[in-house]
Amino acid sequence: MLPHKKIRILVVDDEPSIRESLSGWLRQDGFEVDTAADGVAALAMTKENHYDIMLIDVKMPEMDGLTLLKKLKETEPEAAVVMMTAHGAIQDAVDAMRLGAYDYLLKPFDLEELSLTVDKLVRLQTLAMENLILKDRMATMTRFENLIGQSPPMLALFEAIVDVAQTDATVLITGETGTGKELVARAIHAQSPRCYGPFIAINCGAFTEHLLESELFGHEKGAFTDAKFAKKGRLEMADAGTLFLDEIGDISMKMQIDLLRVLETHEFSRVGGTVTLHSDFRVIAATNRDLKEAIAQKTFRQDLYYRLNVVHLHVPPLRERVEDIPLLAHHFLRRFATETNKKIDSIHPDALEALKRYGWPGNVRELENAIERAVVVQKGRQIKVDDLPFITQPGQEPAAAKLTLEEMERQHIARILAAQGGNISTTAKILGINRTTLYHKIKKYGLSP
Ligand SMILES: Nc1ncnc2c1ncn2[C@@H]1O[C@H](COP(=O)(O)OP(=O)(O)OP(=O)(O)O)[C@@H](O)[C@H]1O
Ligand SMILES: [Mg+2]
Repeated sequence: MLPHKKIRILVVDDEPSIRESLSGWLRQDGFEVDTAADGVAALAMTKENHYDIMLIDVKMPEMDGLTLLKKLKETEPEAAVVMMTAHGAIQDAVDAMRLGAYDYLLKPFDLEELSLTVDKLVRLQTLAMENLILKDRMATMTRFENLIGQSPPMLALFEAIVDVAQTDATVLITGETGTGKELVARAIHAQSPRCYGPFIAINCGAFTEHLLESELFGHEKGAFTDAKFAKKGRLEMADAGTLFLDEIGDISMKMQIDLLRVLETHEFSRVGGTVTLHSDFRVIAATNRDLKEAIAQKTFRQDLYYRLNVVHLHVPPLRERVEDIPLLAHHFLRRFATETNKKIDSIHPDALEALKRYGWPGNVRELENAIERAVVVQKGRQIKVDDLPFITQPGQEPAAAKLTLEEMERQHIARILAAQGGNISTTAKILGINRTTLYHKIKKYGLSP
């Protein structure tokens, strides 16, 4: 059962009124529900469809509930079975639990209680499934340098990475802080024919103009007071490999001119040197700034922008790909649990919900830190809500107070859309608007369905 797939439930009871009331109630809760009047019919239906959850009456003609349960354990071991049994027939319930039923409900039961039971099962199954998906992903992950994601925008990004890796085109990666821009750059390098060459990164925002120049171009001995030895620059080091220019939006106007020239010719000389050097590097640049805005404000050169922006990859913020959160959380959990030698192997459904609800202004990096902290404080085997105090504190929603109504609407639509795997119908239903209105809003806000 995929987390965003519709949950299918089969109700098996010989009493028509019970079938009707249960199925009607569960449909209102948003489930897809089928019914069967006895065990034989139920078995036949499981041949046609896969059911995530089955509610089965114990006393039925033809084939009773316990016999059906035994058979289902062989043919449908993934399905969660809840037995329905009459008050006073508690022994049946006990037998059912022994045979592997998840739970039982005593008749006559209250529908609210039914909802609670089903809700619990859905959470458990989602959790189990998320673990399965995670294992499945582990195999393909290394190709993408541990870049994890299963949301539609991330899958599209993976495809783009594969495509662009086959070329030598300059790539500009944009995205908010902590979204994984550097990982994307490394993944491109790892999949490219240059993977045997070096990946040389430089954080352009971390140096003064003077230092950045000598870091990039290198310097000769005596070029300036501190230059006691000659030093190779990153451009030289990146020969036959990839040069990653991080925080490219932060460099001075003068450096922009120098960089533009070297990107065009691949020729340069060290600071204080006279020899012309040549280096065969592929350039990937990244920024969390809006470069178009910087061009408008005349702090970034348009010609350099065009030179860098041959291929543009955008890494979406985490709040726009909520379905990646459990996957990432489990990935970090595994890593930190192994690192700290702890036996923590799961995340409580409530904690997972809290992680999904939070807005993550610091994106994946913030999630990584939150899980690391939770692993440190947790003494047992499971991460609990209490281990995530920061994200569950009221009022800590992502600076919601500073958002405009439009931005809130945009974020809300993006979140629901992502959680529904891009499904327009279900998203529209959840938002309480019709499909046409939803289409208009998706277009208006530039979201990807
Ligand atoms: N999709 C992902 N899968 C696994 N880990 C990720 C993913 N995205 C980001 N991370 C992790 O989150 C952290 C931040 O990622 P990275 O440094 O690539 O972000 P960035 O976009 O370059 O951020 P900044 O703009 O602040 O430099 C890193 O520790 C990285 O390993
Ligand atoms: Mg970075």
